[in-house]
Amino acid sequence: MNVNIMNVDYSTKIPNNVNLSEDRQVLKALEGWHPGYMNWWGDMGPEGFQQSLVYLRTAYSVDPRGWAKFDYVKMPDYRWGILLAPQEENRVIPFGQHYGEPVWQEVPGEHRAMLRRLIVIQGDTEPASVEQQRHLGKTAPSLYDLRNLFQVNVEEGRHLWAMVYLLQKYFGRDGREEADELLRRRSGDADSPRMLGAFNEATPDWLSFFMFTYFTDRDGKMQLHSLAQSGFDPLSRTCRFMLTEEAHHMFVGETGISRVVQRTCEAMRAAAISDPTDIAKVRALGVIDLPTIQKKLNLHYTLSLDLFGSEVSTNAANAFNAGIKGRYHETQIKDDHRLQNDTYPVLKLVDGQVKRVNEPALTALNMRLRDDYTQDCVKGLLRWNKIISTAGYDFKLALPNVAFHRAIGEFKDVHATPDGVLIDDATWNKRRNEWLPSAGDGEFIASLMRPVTGVGEFAPWISPPKVGIDNKPGDFEYVKIET
Ligand SMILES: [Fe+2]
Ligand SMILES: [Fe+2]
Repeated sequence: MNVNIMNVDYSTKIPNNVNLSEDRQVLKALEGWHPGYMNWWGDMGPEGFQQSLVYLRTAYSVDPRGWAKFDYVKMPDYRWGILLAPQEENRVIPFGQHYGEPVWQEVPGEHRAMLRRLIVIQGDTEPASVEQQRHLGKTAPSLYDLRNLFQVNVEEGRHLWAMVYLLQKYFGRDGREEADELLRRRSGDADSPRMLGAFNEATPDWLSFFMFTYFTDRDGKMQLHSLAQSGFDPLSRTCRFMLTEEAHHMFVGETGISRVVQRTCEAMRAAAISDPTDIAKVRALGVIDLPTIQKKLNLHYTLSLDLFGSEVSTNAANAFNAGIKGRYHETQIKDDHRLQNDTYPVLKLVDGQVKRVNEPALTALNMRLRDDYTQDCVKGLLRWNKIISTAGYDFKLALPNVAFHRAIGEFKDVHATPDGVLIDDATWNKRRNEWLPSAGDGEFIASLMRPVTGVGEFAPWISPPKVGIDNKPGDFEYVKIET
């Protein structure tokens, strides 16, 4: 492990552990990009609170034993830096046709276009989520949640920097052009939208935010894991460090949903409600009923499944063969890491039913990553269902069938119930609102979204967290609001 890069140089305008002060050309490109980024943050970053002091963590090292420092920072003063995980000595390409060869420190010419495209797609998601979440500050249920929102936002900003560094350092003029385009596209914009569907959807309320950070940031986790296996070593090291930060985003999602479920169960018990599906009665208590939570889950999980692309994909096969994008936990998998003769069971539509069909493992890599994702998602559901059963309610949150509400892949042209039963258009149109949030559900949730800014106070639809950030006590002032 290279000790020099553990600590981060904060003396330059752009904190980094990649020796930018001696890399004049890249430093110049990044400094040229910086004002545009600050303009973007001003236009599309969190609405309001830019002059407030927020208790944020900033990465000061890439040492896994202690890499973050907490302090009050105004968001525009956050030090967005370029941080790569330490270089592993003698690392070799862990998969594909170059299996076992030394990793690349420069872009391999033959795979340049593919690599650039993957970096641009990853980069595009980072600012998109900030744009989607920019309105949420004004309805935060507590200062604790407000702080978590802003932490996620500044770190997604840093992830954009991370991808822009790779583009500017390794891809010359087209890299610089792509870096500018990343600041030009806008989430949900009719003319220049973000590249992927889920990143053009609205995040209208805090339950959506928690679902997004649980399900959509988790897609990000899976993608980063696959890219962290890359034979292009700078990409691998970049993604490895991003994953350290990403864990907190999913924590925000998982505990956020836990706290909503907790509060709903407590309120139902206090009011002696025995049927959790009696929506009107539960809503009258000012909490979000479990069936509506299930609908939000259905929406965000399926939007996130679409991010994995088509189940069978030659692009995925090419990226693997090329040594650019591996599998989740590639180095821990016990096989030949080339997959030339292997198969993988893919969910397909066969005679009107969802069935597993063996496909060449190489073209089924998106399916495999999605399966790993689904397994990872289940953990949260177990926790949430534990809260419900402990409260004495017979209700289970569940992941909908893969055929339900899909816009990409094998099931995009059919309609199915959350249980995976195929239905016709008329039935879908009639019953859709039983399974996905309706306008009325949205209005109800919106009616609960009133800001709570008192120190240590929480909105009545969500429980306080079990522990504070950085072990702070319950009455800690996470954001000093400047009006
Ligand atoms: Fe990110
Ligand atoms: Fe994230």
